[in-house]
Amino acid sequence: MKKLFIETLGCAMNVRDSEHMIAELNRKEPYELTTELSQADLIIINTCSVREKPVAKLFSEIGVFNKFKKPSAKIGVTGCTASHLGKEIIKRAPSVDFVLGARNVSKITQVIEEKHAVEVDTDFDESTYNFGDYRTNPFKAMVNISIGCDKSCTFCIVPATRGDEISIPSELLIQEITKAVKTGAKEVMLLGQNVNNYGRRFGSTDENCNFTQLLQKISLIEGLERIRFASPHPLHMDDAFIEEFAKNPKICKQIHVPLQSGSTKLLKEMKRGYSKENFINRCEKIRSLCPEATISTDIIVGFPGESDEDFDHTLEVLEIIRFEQLFSFKYSPRPHTEAAEFDKQIDNTLSGARLTRLQTRHTEILDEIMDAQLDKIHTVYFDELKSNGRVSGRSSDGKLVFVEGSEELLGQILDVKIIKTSRGALDGVLV
Ligand code: SAH
Ligand code: F3S
Repeated sequence: MKKLFIETLGCAMNVRDSEHMIAELNRKEPYELTTELSQADLIIINTCSVREKPVAKLFSEIGVFNKFKKPSAKIGVTGCTASHLGKEIIKRAPSVDFVLGARNVSKITQVIEEKHAVEVDTDFDESTYNFGDYRTNPFKAMVNISIGCDKSCTFCIVPATRGDEISIPSELLIQEITKAVKTGAKEVMLLGQNVNNYGRRFGSTDENCNFTQLLQKISLIEGLERIRFASPHPLHMDDAFIEEFAKNPKICKQIHVPLQSGSTKLLKEMKRGYSKENFINRCEKIRSLCPEATISTDIIVGFPGESDEDFDHTLEVLEIIRFEQLFSFKYSPRPHTEAAEFDKQIDNTLSGARLTRLQTRHTEILDEIMDAQLDKIHTVYFDELKSNGRVSGRSSDGKLVFVEGSEELLGQILDVKIIKTSRGALDGVLV
C-alpha cells in the first residue's frame, strides 16, 4: 500500500481540508498514513499563511524533506500559502510536484497525476462537492458549513487565499452529519471562517437559512449529542443567536468571540465592524443568558498605530471578560492586506513586550478559573485512550478532563467530579 505523510499547519479548517484530501486519495487508491517521512510515497504540506513565520519556514522545510524522502516520493504544497504564492512555489522550489490552493482541495487526485500542476483558483466553488469520508477521531466529526470569507479585516490574508464566502446547503450538511452519527460520532464541530454569517450566499441553491436556524435543524438529528462551532464573528451575534446558544441543550457551552483589539479606534482601522462597547455587550449577554459558558478569544498586539492607550483598552477587556482561552499574536504584515501599507508599523520589541504582558495576565486569570474547578461536576465526552490507563475527553465548556479507565469509556458521555486541577487540564473520578 502507498504511504502518505501529511503535515497540517494552521486552523481547524486546514485540519478538515487534510481529512478531505486523505478521503479523496483513498477513494482512488488506498493510502496508509505515516509519520516517517522516509517511508512516504506522497508528502503533503498543508500550509497556513495568516502570519509570516510559517511561510518563511515552508521553503527550508521543503529542503529538509527533499533530503530525507524516497527519490520517487512526490511533494505537494497545499492550503493558504499555496493559494497566495501559486506557481512561485515551484519556481523557488522546483522539487515541489504540485501546488493546490485552499479552495481546490477536491482536485487532489488530479494534481498528483500531473508534473508541476498548480490549481489555486479562489473562485472555484466546492460548496456542493461530495467529499469522501475520513475522520481523524471516530467519535467526533468536523463539518465545513461555509467556504471563504466575505469580510475584509485589514490585517487578514484569508479572504485573498480562500475567496468569497459561500455557504453549503443545509440539506447536504444534515446528510453529512447524519452519516457521521451513524458511524459513531456523537459530536460535530461546524467550521467556517465566519460561521454565524451562514446563509448570506449559497452557490447553486436559493435556500433561506441563517446560522441560528441551521443550529436548530442540526440539533434535530437523532443520536447527535453535542454541537460545537468555530469561529463566530462578534458582529453577527444577534440576540436570537445568543438565546439559541444558551437554551439549546445540544450546543456545547463554549464560544469563541474573537476580539482582536480592545480599542475602538483600532477596531475601526481593522474594519471589524464593532466597538469595544459592542463587544463587551455581546459577551455580557452570553454570560447573562448562559453563566456556565466559557468564552475564548483571539487578540493581535502591535497592529499599526497601536498606542499604549489602545493596548490598555485591550487589557481592560481581558479584565472584564476574563477569557478562558486566549490565542494572542504579534501583528504580522501580510501581502494582499490593507494594513501592511499603513503608517506607524509597531517596533517588534514593543509588540513583544505587550504580548508578554497580555499573556502573563491571562495566565493568572486562567489559573484562577482552573483552580475554581475543584469538586465541580463536569459532563465529559470521552474520546481518547491514553497509554497510562487513562481516558480523556472534553467537558461541555471545552475543558480537557482525564479519568482512570479503559476503552469501554470511549464514546460515552458521563459525569465526572474534579479532584485535581492544573492550568491545561483537570483530573476527575466518575460519579
Ligand atoms: N475568521 C477566522 C480568522 C482566521 S485568522 C476565525 O475566526 O477563526 C485566525 C486569527 O489569526 C485571527 O483571529 C487573528 O487574531 C489572527 N491573525 C490574522 N491575521 C493576522 C496577522 N496579519 N497578524 C497577526 N495575527 C493575525
Ligand atoms: Fe480574516 Fe476577518 Fe475573515 S479575521 S478570516 S477577514 S473575519
